Amino acid sequence: MKGIKICSNYIQTILFLLILISNFSLSIEASTCKPSGKIKNLKTGQCNRAEESECCKPGKLYTTFKCSPKVSHHTKAILTLNSFEKGGSGGSASKCDNKFHSDKTPVVALSTGWFNNSKRCLKFVNIFGNGKMVKAKVVDECDSTKGCDSDHDFQPPCLNNIVDASAAVWKGLGVPEKDWGQMNVFWSDA
Ligand SMILES: *[C@@H]1O[C@H](CO)[C@@H](O)[C@H](O)[C@H]1NC(C)=O
Repeated sequence: MKGIKICSNYIQTILFLLILISNFSLSIEASTCKPSGKIKNLKTGQCNRAEESECCKPGKLYTTFKCSPKVSHHTKAILTLNSFEKGGSGGSASKCDNKFHSDKTPVVALSTGWFNNSKRCLKFVNIFGNGKMVKAKVVDECDSTKGCDSDHDFQPPCLNNIVDASAAVWKGLGVPEKDWGQMNVFWSDA
C-alpha cells in the first residue's frame, strides 16, 4: 500500500514536471517579439514636420525592435499612410529599388522584422481591411530599429507591426479619404 502511494506521488511529480516543461517550450514557441532597446531625442526643435505627433518629443523614450510579430496567412498589422513620391513623407527613395513611387501605385513599407533583411523586397502582399483586399508591392522598410535622428527626419522608430501604405492602398480598400491614417488590417504574402 505504502509502495503504491510513493509510486503515484512519483508519477504525479514526473507528470507535473512534464507539464511544466511543455508549457515552457510552448511559451518559447509563442513568445512575441521583445524590444531591442530604447532611444531618446536629446535635442529640441529639430523636427520640421507640420504634424507634431510624428516628431520625437524631447526627452521621451522610444522603444526599438529588430523583430516583428510572427507571420501567418492572416497577420495582424496597423495600416498607416505614407507618400513614396519625391518630396513625399517617406523622404528618400525606396530602399528596395532606390526609386520613388506614385501615390497612385499600391506600394508599402514593412516594419523591420517583416521586411526581413530585404527578403520581401519587390514581392507582393495582400492587405485585408474594411472588408476588401488590396495587393501591394513591398518597396521599403519602416525602420523599427532607429529613429529620432537626422537620418530619420527626427521621427520616432516605426512600431514592429506596421504596414505603411501609399494612398492607392487606402483608396483600394475603399476607406473614405477623411479616415486615412491609421487602421487595423491583416496581411499575408501574396
Ligand atoms: C525571413 O526569411 C527567411 C528566409 O526566406 C524565412 O525563413 C523567415 O521565415 C523570414 N522571416 C520573416 C519574419 O518573414
